[in-house]
Amino acid sequence: MFSLLPYNTFALDVHAKHGIIINALSDLHFPLSEPYIILGRGSDVLFTEDFSGTALICNIRGLEIKRVDDEYMVRVGGGEILDELIVQLLSRGICGLENLSAIPGTVGAAPIQNIGAYGVEIGDFIDSLEVCDLSCGKVFTMDKTSCQFGYRDSYFKRHPEARLLVLYVNFRFKAQPELKLSYQGLKDQDLNDAAAVREQVRALRARKLPDPRFVGNAGSFFKNPVVDAKTVARLREDYPDIPVFTASGGRFKLAAGWLIDKSGCRGITHGHAGTWEHQALVLVNRGQAKPHEIVSLAKYVSSQVAMRFGIALVPEVRLYGRGGEISWEMLQ
Ligand code: EPU
Repeated sequence: MFSLLPYNTFALDVHAKHGIIINALSDLHFPLSEPYIILGRGSDVLFTEDFSGTALICNIRGLEIKRVDDEYMVRVGGGEILDELIVQLLSRGICGLENLSAIPGTVGAAPIQNIGAYGVEIGDFIDSLEVCDLSCGKVFTMDKTSCQFGYRDSYFKRHPEARLLVLYVNFRFKAQPELKLSYQGLKDQDLNDAAAVREQVRALRARKLPDPRFVGNAGSFFKNPVVDAKTVARLREDYPDIPVFTASGGRFKLAAGWLIDKSGCRGITHGHAGTWEHQALVLVNRGQAKPHEIVSLAKYVSSQVAMRFGIALVPEVRLYGRGGEISWEMLQ
């Protein structure tokens, strides 16, 4: 048995049958025995029970930086820690990722969800990915377009059957830094450089989000629902102060945290699971929680939101069961 405790930030005491720490592709022997799952540091996953197969932990390291004209091309091993990369880049004057400061997890996992925070998504800076097709061991490069980045979405998330392991991420940064300060909490703050933005983001996150080193959690548990104008109009009749943000394609993004909060679910505790007092969208392990306690809390929260607002929440975290990844519907 292989403990997944260090590989899920929910800090659930779950196991895989086997585990392989991948420091180089040569650590894998093809064909791989089925089933298997790919993990970085497990900061966006919920194990609903033990996993009956092999956990592949990507730990490929490396950082190469090249200046090409007015850009930096940066190649990073998928197993590098994202926040450590941001520190390294800033120390060399390379800016862009500072808005993503303090997000737990690895560089290779970041494009899978196209992680984002404070007005920046990782896909904005990705040039290409070097991936391995685990069904045969073939290595190839995917350009940004083929990654199909969307809101917390990518080709990889939509096509788990493609079985692609991210070996290296190639980033492209402009040599002349452009700070992204449009987000509430960053604008009108007198932030003059990327280091100041990083500190402000760290402070904002620390105020709202629990540190997974001390409180098990996987960040936002649900995605922010994207709805049409008719739905916004319906909601505004009863809730004139509902936060609404414009999304692409003439649609609108609602704040799942606000919906959960207004459904009376902020700071609640069910068994050993709960929602965070300062950000209702974050489900937490209050200590010794079992997977089923997080699952039943997630179901309870989504049912309360559905009852009050008629909006269906969908998890942002990826769910895993005994045989591999499972859908939210499979848990209902
Ligand atoms: N709100 C409440 N009550 C709550 C939580 C939020 O009323 O309990 C309201 C806030 O006041 C605000 C709105 O809801 O008006 C949105 O909240 P917030 O600004 O905290 O952002 P979010 O939409 O909840 C998203 C990302 C976070 C990211 C932040 C900052 C998603 C699902 N979540 O959160 O990402 O850090 O914006 O950019 O898109 C993550 O993905 O794990 C994550 C933490």
